[in-house]
Amino acid sequence: MLLRPLKIRDLTFPANVLLAPMAGVTDRAFREMVRRWSPDELTCTEMAVAQHLVHSRELPELSKIYPADPPIAMQIAGHDPYYMAKAAEMAVDFGAVIVDINMACPSKKINGNGDGVSVTCVPSQVDRVLKAVVGATPLPVTLKLRLGMDDLRITCTETARIAEQCGISMITLHGRTKAQMYSGLANWDMIDATAKAIGIPLIGVGDIRSPEDAERRLRETSVAGVMVGRAMGGTPWLIGQITEYLRTGVAPPDPTEYERLGIAMEHLTLIVQYKGEKVGVPEARKHMAWYTKGMVNSAEVRDIINRLPNLNEVIEALSDFRENFRPVAA
Ligand SMILES: Cc1cc2nc3c(=O)[nH]c(=O)nc-3n(C[C@H](O)[C@H](O)[C@H](O)COP(=O)(O)O)c2cc1C
Repeated sequence: MLLRPLKIRDLTFPANVLLAPMAGVTDRAFREMVRRWSPDELTCTEMAVAQHLVHSRELPELSKIYPADPPIAMQIAGHDPYYMAKAAEMAVDFGAVIVDINMACPSKKINGNGDGVSVTCVPSQVDRVLKAVVGATPLPVTLKLRLGMDDLRITCTETARIAEQCGISMITLHGRTKAQMYSGLANWDMIDATAKAIGIPLIGVGDIRSPEDAERRLRETSVAGVMVGRAMGGTPWLIGQITEYLRTGVAPPDPTEYERLGIAMEHLTLIVQYKGEKVGVPEARKHMAWYTKGMVNSAEVRDIINRLPNLNEVIEALSDFRENFRPVAA
């Protein structure tokens, strides 16, 4: 059975198909949309730097957990065991069920401070950070990794072994190096080799775009589960669809274009509800672009939407556009 409950230390989640955290994408509104099709799956907050978390008077929006969110992991990044431990201490009070450590982020800014994937260049530092976090929280601690810095510095298996010894409960491995950023193809052979080298569950990430992709990776490798990232943009139903496919062998059909535009409008409304019109409408544009991608004449509606500052105007533009997809008999 490829669809399995996901066991992380003493916690069990219904399925081994997870939403990847994506800063600037998988915010409160997005997670709420995803929950409609997969209500009880584990999700994760967007990455926050531990030092900022500890010093900020108010918890940054990136890390806030809302009533609709649990079960959710809180993701923190950093190279300093002190701040990482302090940030981990905070997670339980904020409603997280897991602390997830990010040693995978490839961004220049984060790595310039010695955080993200660059922590993995120094195994002894990995060891110190992980032990500090595991010791600071009663929650299970999980770790997100990349393959390594570049093709000549592949460190994921060694880091995963250290993590297991430090008491980490699960690894998530994105099958690319830092040098690759998000380009090229994820290397699932290396994901598989790392999964086989450790005794804790490993979740594989990279290029899963369909129920068939997920099924193939689960069938061909030793991963305990899969995580879906960019393919979720404009398709918040995808994880639910994958789960159903794994359960029954039949994927529920994609929503029609008419339905997709309705979902887009609901998502837009949630973003504005949570972030206000001034921040929310511009932020929602990328989501609207993903929802409308591939629809006939959608470039025109995107062009219009990208210039509109108000929620009602954008809804009106999308509603007008949606009329094109109304069945003739309706
Ligand atoms: C815009 C964007 C933001 C991301 N932010 C995070 C993050 O905050 N934390 C994290 O662990 N990974 C982050 N990731 C990486 C994804 O979780 C995932 O590992 C990566 O996109 C590979 O999966 P995919 O090929 O399915 O997209 C981000 C990726 C993207 C594209």
